[in-house]
Amino acid sequence: MTYVVTEACIKCKYMDCVEVCPVDCFYEGENMLVINPNECIDCGVCEPECPADAIRPDTEDGLEQWLKLNAQYAESWPNVTQKGNVPADADEWKGQEEKLQYFSDKPGKGS
Ligand code: SF4
Ligand code: F3S
Repeated sequence: MTYVVTEACIKCKYMDCVEVCPVDCFYEGENMLVINPNECIDCGVCEPECPADAIRPDTEDGLEQWLKLNAQYAESWPNVTQKGNVPADADEWKGQEEKLQYFSDKPGKGS
């Protein structure tokens, strides 16, 4: 079992989650983060830290595509352990639906 970052993170990328993860298993893309399912120890500490409510346990229904996306991009994006710059318009994207169309597969800058 693992926790996964879901659609709600796209274009919000608040990064409060990375500050609390005891095993530093977040990876940074241009406009969202993912969790490496092979490294997550399932502690759940990050879930309540996300202002966009984007982090869910993979035991919830309907998260298969997000688990796959997290596993895939954790392989190529840089590890991130410190909060970086939050997008200036993050609050405008918070709570919006159907954000997958804005997903960027480009890597972030890491830390
Ligand atoms: Fe890190 Fe724990 Fe969140 Fe997994 S559940 S990503 S180990 S803080
Ligand atoms: Fe994304 Fe929430 Fe972390 S918006 S970067 S999962 S704090």
